[in-house]
Amino acid sequence: MFHRVHRQLLAALLFVCIHGRNGCVASGEAGVTYSRGDQSVYLAARGAAYDSDHVDPSHFKLLRKRLASPTVGETYDDPNECTIYLAESSIPNAGLGLYTAVPYQRHQPIGHSEIGILMQDPDFHAPPDRHRVDLLSSYVWSATPLTFGEHEVGHGEAVCPGIGMMSNCHFGLINVEHTSNWKKHYWQDGTDALAVEGGKHSTLSDVGRGSYTWHGNVRYEAHNNIQAGEELFLSYGPQWYENSSSDFGGLIPSAEHFKMADIGLINFMNSLVDPSGMKFEDGVLNHRVPYERLLKKAERYDARLRAALPDNVEDVPMAIELGTARFSTKDSIRSPEWLKENGACLDKIVGGASTIPQAGRGAFATRTIKEGGIITTTEVITIDKDVLKLRKEIKRKDGQIRSRHAGYQLILNYCYGHRDSSLAFFPTSQSVNFINHGSKEDANAEIRWSSFQYHKSEWINYTLAEMKRLDKAGLLFDVVATKNISRGDEILLYYGEIWEENWDRHIGSWGSSPKNFTDMKGVNTTVDFNRKGFVFRTEEELMTNPYPDHLMTRCGFELPTETKADYEVNDPKRVPCDILERDPIENTDRFFYRAKVEYTDKATNEVMLYSVKYDSRQNFLAFVDKPYTRDYYRKGAFRQSIGLREGIIPSQWMHRLEG
Ligand SMILES: *[C@@H]1O[C@H](CO)[C@@H](O)[C@H](O)[C@H]1NC(C)=O
Ligand SMILES: *[C@@H]1O[C@H](CO)[C@@H](O)[C@H](O)[C@H]1NC(C)=O
Ligand SMILES: *[C@@H]1O[C@H](CO)[C@@H](O)[C@H](O)[C@H]1NC(C)=O
Ligand SMILES: *[C@@H]1O[C@H](CO)[C@@H](O)[C@H](O)[C@H]1NC(C)=O
Ligand SMILES: *[C@@H]1O[C@H](CO)[C@@H](O)[C@H](O)[C@H]1NC(C)=O
Repeated sequence: MFHRVHRQLLAALLFVCIHGRNGCVASGEAGVTYSRGDQSVYLAARGAAYDSDHVDPSHFKLLRKRLASPTVGETYDDPNECTIYLAESSIPNAGLGLYTAVPYQRHQPIGHSEIGILMQDPDFHAPPDRHRVDLLSSYVWSATPLTFGEHEVGHGEAVCPGIGMMSNCHFGLINVEHTSNWKKHYWQDGTDALAVEGGKHSTLSDVGRGSYTWHGNVRYEAHNNIQAGEELFLSYGPQWYENSSSDFGGLIPSAEHFKMADIGLINFMNSLVDPSGMKFEDGVLNHRVPYERLLKKAERYDARLRAALPDNVEDVPMAIELGTARFSTKDSIRSPEWLKENGACLDKIVGGASTIPQAGRGAFATRTIKEGGIITTTEVITIDKDVLKLRKEIKRKDGQIRSRHAGYQLILNYCYGHRDSSLAFFPTSQSVNFINHGSKEDANAEIRWSSFQYHKSEWINYTLAEMKRLDKAGLLFDVVATKNISRGDEILLYYGEIWEENWDRHIGSWGSSPKNFTDMKGVNTTVDFNRKGFVFRTEEELMTNPYPDHLMTRCGFELPTETKADYEVNDPKRVPCDILERDPIENTDRFFYRAKVEYTDKATNEVMLYSVKYDSRQNFLAFVDKPYTRDYYRKGAFRQSIGLREGIIPSQWMHRLEG
């Protein structure tokens, strides 16, 4: 189960990261309609809805039409039509949302593989006042969407651009979910895999090591059949809702509430005794009083159930027809015309293996884009660079612990900024973060403030302090073609002189005095080891044939329960384990493994050892890197934000930074 991290209750959330393909909605847990960033405004809007007049039925014409003649299953292969749009969310005051212009079938992949960037121990490294303003932290996920990300550091949080950052959450209308890689694809996760499989980049001797994220395979799929025009809604996880402000949570229906409301309305309709045989519309005056009673009853039971019900009895038949969740969000399916007119197309670039050595992945044009044309548009998250600083605790001679600045979070390499400004901007749109640096001559794109109607151009006049207090996103970049671009061209941005100088210096120092990466030269990564059919070594065998130092084995594990006669792992966490025995299974190429599994009860911190038998077919055994051994946690890893051209950052956001 993946979930957005709700910072105030981090400690509680750490323990609920469970791998599994079904999100919380599929397993029937409660959810919430969540308006990102601005709960109070959203709340006010929901409050106002109580007093609203009867909703104009014409609002629902499109919805009814689309739901009556679903387009799901039609093949879609017009390469010139945009498939995915950024546009105003159908949830009031939720800012921008993501819409698909094409239908999908359940479990069909949506969008392309994306990178995921791990934030390492954000609570430890954050400046003391981080909680006051840290827009990025309202976008982070638990580390589970990144295969094995949760083992990389003490506590990791995942930044998942693309669908993971742009989608809103409406628990009654969840239609997209993270694809869980861990059973199917974990051995081919990441840029390392690209290096191994494609053979294009040798990560082992690569000067780029540590400068880009290892996680390049964050994927999404349709949670159910999706109509063309639907806004994409991703479950942020029930914890998000449970621990949102109680006022807010108090009004927002969960998936269960919508279901109850649907049933309640049908029962209500069936209960109406209408001796004259009048049509519902004609008898509506008579139904008003019993409906008021129903609403009161619902309110007493649970305000969120009441919020799932239409305010006016006139709307009951429509709410039954569409379902109360769909009814509650009348623009959740937009017309193709609306999307074309109001949306920004996001599928003109796609990630792939870069043509540049050491660059990992790159972004490629999916169609022809003329000079001056918009390649893509992206909302940017404003970040105070202080939030991205890493610190190290130094014990002084007198025993006092001092904190020292020790580099930056990896995400800095994906942020845009200016040498003289302490602000950084992280783009959220899909594939934007794949765009590599090209020399002034090679670059074929540049960043501009967006011409998209939702770009809040007036924010350019904000003071630096105001910018650092932002609790929502509102600024957008356009990536604009500076040359004619053909389909398949790699998109390159000039990252600026400072970036170039630092990169050259990095390469130089790499050559003359190898940093701490070289000790891993010739050593295989988890990708090599996590191959299908790998034969795990027993403790005894490891005495003479050890694994490389940076690897450890993890086993899928669930606490045994009394009700389970046979021990069976369905939805495991991965915990440290050692292989005690290995027995071939007759007439197969499989093994039974007996493993010593180490389980820590988080509540009591008590460590318990279990002896568990695994069939190698289950893929429950895997290699992960020991914490902090991946390249980007090493000293000497390259850290530098991407430079914005002069004239983009207004002068009042600048001040000289030390160093
Ligand atoms: C949510 O917060 C409340 C109190 O603020 C707490 O009692 C509850 O356990 C939390 N729920 C989760 C799932 O963390
Ligand atoms: C910024 O403020 C100036 C002066 O008040 C005004 O003329 C200008 O239009 C503002 N710019 C934007 C983008 O709102
Ligand atoms: C770009 O393409 C247009 C036509 O598509 C052409 O007129 C123009 O000369 C091209 N520009 C360059 C620099 O090649
Ligand atoms: C490299 O890492 C090892 C530990 O893995 C450490 O002992 C050594 O000092 C490091 N070398 C440099 C040059 O940082
Ligand atoms: C690394 O893995 C490759 C297969 O991917 C294997 O051929 C090679 O022997 C391994 N090298 C080491 C040092 O384990």
